[in-house]
Amino acid sequence: MEKQIEELRSSFEEDLKNVKTLKDIESLRVTYLGRKGNLTTILRGMAALSTDERPRMGSLANQLKTFIEERLAGRARELEASETKELIDVTLPGRMPRKGSIHILNQVLTEIEDIFLDLGFQIASGPEVEDDYHNFEALNIPAFHPARDMQATFYFSDRLLLRTHTSPVQIRVMESNGLPVRIIAPGKVYRSDSDVTHTPMFHQVEGLWVEEGITFGHLKGVLEAFIHTLFGRDVAVRFRPSFFPFTEPSAEVDIGCVICKGKGCRVCKDTGWLEILGSGMVDPEVFKYVGIDSEKVTGFAFGLGVERVAMLKYGIDDIRLFFENDLRFLTQF
Ligand code: FA5
Repeated sequence: MEKQIEELRSSFEEDLKNVKTLKDIESLRVTYLGRKGNLTTILRGMAALSTDERPRMGSLANQLKTFIEERLAGRARELEASETKELIDVTLPGRMPRKGSIHILNQVLTEIEDIFLDLGFQIASGPEVEDDYHNFEALNIPAFHPARDMQATFYFSDRLLLRTHTSPVQIRVMESNGLPVRIIAPGKVYRSDSDVTHTPMFHQVEGLWVEEGITFGHLKGVLEAFIHTLFGRDVAVRFRPSFFPFTEPSAEVDIGCVICKGKGCRVCKDTGWLEILGSGMVDPEVFKYVGIDSEKVTGFAFGLGVERVAMLKYGIDDIRLFFENDLRFLTQF
């Protein structure tokens, strides 16, 4: 048996020289150490040996087993290293990091801001967590007034809430700045609202111009100039009588639906028009809250939806696309 073990070692060493792949290693392992392998057969034959011979032969056979296992593992490591090397083609060009870009809503917002800056407006801001006084009360919407239902509100407590519009910035600016006031206030606003044209968080740009002699004509002139700069001279614009507790008279402004060209689609709810902003002359009641004499000065205000503007400008038919962070959508702009 000793001779058999020696011969097996020699034949294993010969076979190992011919191993070229990891697959060859595995088949060699099966040939020598598998259940029906050469060495396994010898180990099984141990039972037939005398008790004198058995310990020595057992030890020789186990040494050979360890020897085979170590050699196979060593060769496998060599092959793994060289096979991986083959997979890396060092001549291929490297992968360039993706270039980031400005989110479409920020692009549109910057465009809107630039138009109003050119018209002599300054940029103001206010808190997103607002108090009831600035968001409602001082805008002539007292507690339990039905107009509060127009804006489904997220409340933190009786007094604190997420602002439902940028109009509270009007109050904050008139409280702290002297006259005249000519500002826009862009920012996030929140409402419990969700469908193809409404999201729970969206962006508005508030506008406010208060000065002696401001009329509805100024309101129309500024908003038409804004819309025609943003959408081009050809776009249809209409002022529709409306109601806001903080403006009197009030008007909502619609532009012709650029998605269906006025024919009717799901975005314009088959009307051919899409509302982009609310506006009006500042209500004298609001001036009372901030201590401005409405006999001396007048003003107009407006609030526009940035997502609405972006949807119309780029023909996007679902507002939720802006917030899904799908790169296939975002990289188009
Ligand atoms: C207001 O929020 C008034 N504060 C606007 C205003 C300001 C009127 C100053 C008069 C004077 P309204 O709820 O209609 O009004 O919203 C204004 C615009 O925000 C809408 O025209 C629309 O473009 C956009 N908007 C309203 N709700 C949503 C929403 N859930 N998702 C996306 N855009 C919205």
